[in-house]
Amino acid sequence: MKKLVVLSGAGMSAESGVSTFRGAGGLWDKYPVEQVATPEGYAADPGLVINFYNERRRQLLKVEPNRGHELIAELEKEFDVTVVTQNIDNLHERAGSSKIIHLHGELTKVCSSFSPYDPRYIRELDPEEYEIKLGNLAPDGSQYRPYIVWFGEAVPKIEEAIRSVEQADIFLIIGTSMNVYPAAGLLNYVSSRTPVYLIDPNEVSVNSNGHKIHVIRKVASEGMEELTTLLTAK
Ligand code: APR
Repeated sequence: MKKLVVLSGAGMSAESGVSTFRGAGGLWDKYPVEQVATPEGYAADPGLVINFYNERRRQLLKVEPNRGHELIAELEKEFDVTVVTQNIDNLHERAGSSKIIHLHGELTKVCSSFSPYDPRYIRELDPEEYEIKLGNLAPDGSQYRPYIVWFGEAVPKIEEAIRSVEQADIFLIIGTSMNVYPAAGLLNYVSSRTPVYLIDPNEVSVNSNGHKIHVIRKVASEGMEELTTLLTAK
């Protein structure tokens, strides 16, 4: 089976009703990124940050995967698919994708404030526990914090993502403005023989590093319909 690696971003979930980050009406317009998505912001006001992610978790209960997520999951019938996502929602898994690397963490998990990546303290929350409060402690005695990679923090899953991207026979970029590194740099690890597709309704400026990119200028669901036809045409 050929290996298809997908790099997804916030636009993947836009049709499900999850806001993107950049551009008019994006999340970073409403919430200052340095307050809610940096270790300094968390140190200054942990309650505010915890509530911001409580709100994102509540939203998760109201949204569903869209046709784009479903079509990526369906491609597993024909390809060995790995999804490398920058998204913290769980819509790829709910659509049925089985191999997902969450580069920027997961909304449904919490971790220790002292050692965020220590697997002993990473906990998956049940939906009825989605409201984390100040005073909810990890077993190491620290406040439970959102299991999210904030700006300025290391991205521990990047090595695993690179290994996967290096082996891709087909690479797909979908719904990301390619503004945030190291995720945006993953294209540099794609073999020069590997076809690269990009699905986005808007123009995305990509440092293509010599790759010829097949651009499908459509929203995720429609773009995935087109790509599925292209990839599965016999
Ligand atoms: N279908 C596909 N793409 C879409 C859609 C849609 N329906 N709607 C918008 N887009 C595209 C936008 O044109 C844009 O290129 O999705 C992209 C969203 O870009 P960003 O908001 O910058 O999101 P992303 O690239 O995922 O951000 C990366 O930045 O703030 C951090 O940690 C956060 O993981 C996030 C990272």
